[in-house]
Amino acid sequence: MLDQLHDYRRIALEELAVVADAATLEAWYRAHLAPSGKATGWKRNIGKLPVAERKGFGQSVNEVTAELEKAFQLHKRRIDLLELEKRILAEATDVTLPARGVARGGHHPVTLALREVIGVFEQMGFVVYESPHVELDELNFELLNMPPDHPARDMQDTFYVDDDVVLRTHTSSGQVRAMRQLCPGPVRVILPGLCYRHENITPRSEIQFHQIEGLLVGPEVRLSDLKGVLLKFARALFGPNQAIRMRGSYFPFTEPSCEVDIRCTLCGGNGCRVCKQSGWLELLGAGLVHPVVLRNGGYDPTQVRGIAFGMGIERLVLLRHGIDDIRLIFQNDLRFLRQFA
Ligand code: DAH
Repeated sequence: MLDQLHDYRRIALEELAVVADAATLEAWYRAHLAPSGKATGWKRNIGKLPVAERKGFGQSVNEVTAELEKAFQLHKRRIDLLELEKRILAEATDVTLPARGVARGGHHPVTLALREVIGVFEQMGFVVYESPHVELDELNFELLNMPPDHPARDMQDTFYVDDDVVLRTHTSSGQVRAMRQLCPGPVRVILPGLCYRHENITPRSEIQFHQIEGLLVGPEVRLSDLKGVLLKFARALFGPNQAIRMRGSYFPFTEPSCEVDIRCTLCGGNGCRVCKQSGWLELLGAGLVHPVVLRNGGYDPTQVRGIAFGMGIERLVLLRHGIDDIRLIFQNDLRFLRQFA
């Protein structure tokens, strides 16, 4: 009986030694050490022996079982390591693979133009003043000298959010906000940002567009300052020989009002398709701030004067790059955008 037990021990250990994966190890455990396993079976044989042999044999069975148990634990640790190694290899990164290229982004042409324009005005001492896109009707129209029945309101088809709240139709909506905040001190701000108008989308008009507004208020401000500031701006953007001209115009919030043209950047003034043979390109609207607007901003129009101007940024981008369709700016087609990166 003892010989058989030792044969069993040898065979069980030999079987265990060649186990190489977790599933086979599990099967070995079930075959030997589990309650229904062979090693446990030996214990049941103890009772069949003559009483005198039982104690000695029982001890041997216990020793063999303990040895198998210990061998199993040792082997299990080896198998666990093997399995772990297999998993790590399967999940591992091949560091010898060539790296993937990093896709470099670029700024939108409108962002680039806005930054450039803001930079030019900052050099002249203007600071950026942000005002809300969703604006009171009062600030977008009324306080700019356009009461509810004013015919000038027809010039702008407006998105109404509420009876008295609109999506701002121009950056002029920030003028009175800036004045009220800075009054009684001087004002020298630029107001950049998106504006919204309920227009048909065509190559020349979009329902959203960027403007940049300029506002300068102080005791010594005069029309020649407007001319100086805008000439300096035009030359910074379009070259040192750039010419501008001011044409009389009408805006409710300025008096007098003008429109400012730059000499055509394409033909240099000789006349071409882009400037419709006139030699000039319309750049912006401007004027002396209307006394009513100054008063709405908190100022005494007999003590201070103001100049104001407002221009479209998309128009600048189109002009500078010879693009003839404003819709390209908002479609965000990467083939278009990449050309500015
Ligand atoms: N707000 C005008 C527009 O959207 C542009 C404009 C004209 C702004 C004259 C001004 C100004 O500040 O003085 O068409």
